[in-house]
Amino acid sequence: MKVIITENYEELSKVTANIFAAAIKENPSIKLGLATGSTPVGLYEELVEMYKNNEVDFSEVITFNLDEYVGLDKTNENSYNYFMHENLFNHVNLKKENINLPDGMSSTIEQSLIDYQLKIENLGGIDLQIDGLGENGHIGFNEPDSALKLNAHVTPLTESTIQANSRFFDTIEEVPTSAITLGMGNIFASKAIIIIANGAHKAKAVNALVNSTEVTTQNPSTFLKLHPNVTVIVDKEAAKLL
Ligand code: GLP
Repeated sequence: MKVIITENYEELSKVTANIFAAAIKENPSIKLGLATGSTPVGLYEELVEMYKNNEVDFSEVITFNLDEYVGLDKTNENSYNYFMHENLFNHVNLKKENINLPDGMSSTIEQSLIDYQLKIENLGGIDLQIDGLGENGHIGFNEPDSALKLNAHVTPLTESTIQANSRFFDTIEEVPTSAITLGMGNIFASKAIIIIANGAHKAKAVNALVNSTEVTTQNPSTFLKLHPNVTVIVDKEAAKLL
């Protein structure tokens, strides 16, 4: 596990965007695994800026998002579909047909998840996966539990995740109580994984990810210690317990 500590959030976003841009240059039809949350906002801003300056071309890139709330339509501002369009997709030359997100409104959710995974597999898997880090160590929406799921699934959200994510909603009652997420097996099948985290509130989670000497389902991020190509990029604040 490679760890990069940056001075601040801006540098974290720039360093991560440079890795993305280089990977896209090397493989223009790269399959990117994308994530939401507040952490990757700066990364997407940098990528949009690089696109505007002709430094990166998304015309052949294929994207798969990691997770989505159940029950939020893509027109809902809190859906991850809406987030991705606002923060990245609407501003770069990604082809519509190359954008993939789990569908939180599907009436046949189980089948749609099987299809989603198959599509990833048939295209050869995700080359580069970006992900934030939940304060409780969740990855995507793989929440701490007595066992972790390998495949894409619907999961109830833990109280702490509902609390943490309520800042985006008007009231806590509006936060969906379940979500779709790619499973740990899907995430592990990615050829390279970058985890980003910033701010003092992530310091404990970052410390557990980097320094824990055991893997535990009570902290899903610790499983990343077993993956051969993980880079953790954190700002000074998030790194303060390392
Ligand atoms: C959310 C998402 C994760 C994200 C994490 C951290 O609930 N499901 O994919 O990485 O929690 O969010 P943030 O970046 O806002 O701290």
